[in-house]
Amino acid sequence: MSSHYCLFPLFFLTLSTLSHSSSSSYLKLPLLPGTTLPHTLAASLRRPQSPLTSGAATGSGQYFADLRLGSPPQRLLLVADTGSDLVWVKCSACRNCSKTRSTFLPRHSSSFSLTHCYDSLCQLVPHPQPQHCNNRSRTHTPCHYQYSYADSSTTRGLFSKETTTFNTATITNITFGCGFKTSGPSVTGSSFNGAQGVLGLGRGPISFTSQLARKFGNTFSYCLLDYTLSPPPKSYLTIGSPPNDTVSRSYTPLLTNPFSPSFYYITILRVSVDAVNLKIDPSVWRIDANGNGGTVVDSGTTLTFLAEPAYRLLLAAFRRRLRLPAVDAAAFGFDLCVNVSATARPRLPRLRFRLAGKAVLSPPAGNYFIEPVEGVKCLAVQPVRPGSGFSVMGNLMQQGYLFEFDLDRSRIGFSRRGCAVR
Ligand SMILES: *[C@@H]1O[C@H](CO)[C@@H](O)[C@H](O)[C@H]1NC(C)=O
Ligand SMILES: *[C@@H]1O[C@H](CO)[C@@H](O)[C@H](O)[C@H]1NC(C)=O
Ligand SMILES: *[C@@H]1O[C@H](CO)[C@@H](O)[C@H](O)[C@H]1NC(C)=O
Ligand SMILES: *[C@@H]1O[C@H](CO)[C@@H](O)[C@H](O)[C@H]1NC(C)=O
Ligand SMILES: *[C@@H]1O[C@H](CO)[C@@H](O)[C@H](O)[C@H]1NC(C)=O
Repeated sequence: MSSHYCLFPLFFLTLSTLSHSSSSSYLKLPLLPGTTLPHTLAASLRRPQSPLTSGAATGSGQYFADLRLGSPPQRLLLVADTGSDLVWVKCSACRNCSKTRSTFLPRHSSSFSLTHCYDSLCQLVPHPQPQHCNNRSRTHTPCHYQYSYADSSTTRGLFSKETTTFNTATITNITFGCGFKTSGPSVTGSSFNGAQGVLGLGRGPISFTSQLARKFGNTFSYCLLDYTLSPPPKSYLTIGSPPNDTVSRSYTPLLTNPFSPSFYYITILRVSVDAVNLKIDPSVWRIDANGNGGTVVDSGTTLTFLAEPAYRLLLAAFRRRLRLPAVDAAAFGFDLCVNVSATARPRLPRLRFRLAGKAVLSPPAGNYFIEPVEGVKCLAVQPVRPGSGFSVMGNLMQQGYLFEFDLDRSRIGFSRRGCAVR
């Protein structure tokens, strides 16, 4: 399991220009959702599985991050993923190429350097062969990494160092994977849709946020805005606390799972549908002795996945309360779809999560119903089998909220009002 991390790239963040405040206390990165979600989502849905078993959970509809890497800077679109740690880009060893934006060209950068086996950083990444770097006579060998996601999608290459440029002014060095080989649907299939790598925002030491947030107050936040709007609204991934940030938020504590230390775990206490609490045994939400279970906040997964017993109760409650003509949901890859074409303003049941720390998430219906085709709405929640995975608060459920990851105080804050002011 040590080499299995999680990536459910369905939605991306677009940091199309990395801007930097004049006070140099934070970095602000514009975000744009990908534009291909509704057509491909239903067809490509898979359920997430725990890092202990190989399994997939990808679809499309991503948020891209636009990273400027190297000297002079090369622009790259990366999947922003709170469900994994490694920052990596597709690399090409090309010596004298026209820049096509499809890969990073280290030989076109004067600031690129490799890390080596003797570098302590090299111990932080998994290697293609376990003994790689163990051999004393090979200490000057470049540090090779091999990083796998939950569906066994893999990136391999050289663990490297580069400068990143924010708004042409602030320069920060990062360590990242220069990927020469990628395989698997999460990093090659349509769900990757034009991305050139992944911006890992997880809790591990090699993530983008761990490398940068420390310099900017150990906090980061983002708004994922409605993917259905056109033109897509601009939002931000912010590293550090912006000045004058007076938005009040609800906070819920972060839990740590020693089996999956990269994930941001939160605690669901209760779920209600139209203000009626579902009778879910609290043990359903717990992280068990083997590290299974729990609930993860993941910007790289579109849908929300709930542990099976909770999901069944949720589905039954929605079925009872929805008074709209049913549609063959399996055709869209869901369990519950309704035909809303004859109803101007269909009434959809209200979903609410009560979280630890007295925080309540009452998302708008658009965060848990998606329209795979015009006039059909499907419940965008999927089950996770007990003992084989964990629940996921996907990025659709996070839409329209400011989400703040406060690493020092080990908590996540959210607010419906935070996106408008940024
Ligand atoms: C490399 O690129 C330069 C300028 O783009 C060009 O003049 C030169 O002929 C190229 N060299 C090779 C070996 O392709
Ligand atoms: C260590 O490296 C040397 C030289 O590359 C090689 O001969 C030897 O087999 C390696 N040992 C192990 C355990 O990999
Ligand atoms: C980045 O790394 C380069 C080369 O190691 C070094 O010269 C430079 O000072 C570093 N910049 C920062 C901001 O740490
Ligand atoms: C912060 O707020 C004060 C007073 O409202 C304002 O004068 C100042 O320009 C603001 N600073 C920034 C960076 O927005
Ligand atoms: C939805 O209902 C309308 C009639 O109100 C019908 O024409 C349409 O085919 C239905 N759509 C689906 C997907 O069943």
